[in-house]
Amino acid sequence: MKVAVLGAAGGIGQALSLLLKTQLPAGTDLALYDIAPVTPGVAKDLSHIPTAVSIEGYGKDDLGKALEGADIVLIPAGVPRKPGMDRADLFNVNAGVVKHLAEQIADVCPSACVGIITNPVNTTVAIAAEVFKAKGCYDKNKLFGVTTLDVIRAETFIAEAKGLNPEDVNINVIGGHSGVTILPLLSQLGLDFSDDEIAAMTHRIQNAGTEVVEAKAGGGSATLSMGQAAARFCLSLVKALNGEEGVVECTYVDGGSEHATLFAQPVKLGKGGVEEILSYGEISAYEKAALDGMLDTLKGDIAKGVEFVNG
Ligand code: NAD
Ligand code: LMR
Repeated sequence: MKVAVLGAAGGIGQALSLLLKTQLPAGTDLALYDIAPVTPGVAKDLSHIPTAVSIEGYGKDDLGKALEGADIVLIPAGVPRKPGMDRADLFNVNAGVVKHLAEQIADVCPSACVGIITNPVNTTVAIAAEVFKAKGCYDKNKLFGVTTLDVIRAETFIAEAKGLNPEDVNINVIGGHSGVTILPLLSQLGLDFSDDEIAAMTHRIQNAGTEVVEAKAGGGSATLSMGQAAARFCLSLVKALNGEEGVVECTYVDGGSEHATLFAQPVKLGKGGVEEILSYGEISAYEKAALDGMLDTLKGDIAKGVEFVNG
């Protein structure tokens, strides 16, 4: 198994690469690629950690080598938000970054599973899908928007509010990855929430990224929690690709959702990537209204990505 991280020298990339170096199964190859000159040094640094995961760093001219033979490609390459910005404000820079990287993936490792972290995720996943379609290698079962950060935040905040062990909280977060398109299904937890608590908790989960952006005061957005979230997603995918049964994560996929062409919901992962899109189950009237209310935004975000590639 080979995992490539594109944007590996950044805040997310370094945290993610550290977690993968220490947690991927023995025998895995980890390839770190970034345009930043420090990248071989990041790989050298991590290579001194005694695990049976081999690691190699690739500089800006060696994307092809980094991708060669990759089974999983994770993309946290691109610029992060500063206070006052929306994720959509990152489109101008990050759309081109993701398009370029997706083109190279299509040329070098067209059957890899690709997990996109770069914002705006609602749009960048659509960009990658359109690139793969144009290159004739689109497999909708192998393209994922990584929305795991919304899930781990929900688990954390709910556990804090209710005095639970976060490891005992399992929640579906559906929709997309920005503002109102993030919808945690609190009603499914069987916990005692008042209507006000539901509204406040939903709002906090939807705006948690901004909470970090403001706290970092111009120094970027979530990197460490995102590293953990992406590592969780990647390790789940590795288990599933290796044949482990019953691996489920919420992720933003092309699954023929009745709501939008791309939609985050629980997905059973398997040897070929997406094995089955699972139902997100019963939702409350509050959640139904929130779902209906997000769809114009989500569809607009997706259309922007399609338009970017196809003109
Ligand atoms: P960062 O600036 O710390 O790191 C980004 C890295 O990408 C840099 O090292 C940069 O050199 C590299 N890069 C830029 N263009 C590249 C290219 N063409 N090829 C390869 N590498 C390239 O930023 P960060 O904090 O790590 O955030 C990265 C992205 O992840 C941002 O777009 C951010 O909004 C997004 N993000 C997504 C989530 C999520 O939940 N999906 C969470 C947090 C951040
Ligand atoms: C997050 O949710 O933390 C990320 O999408 C980064 C951001 O810009 O909020």
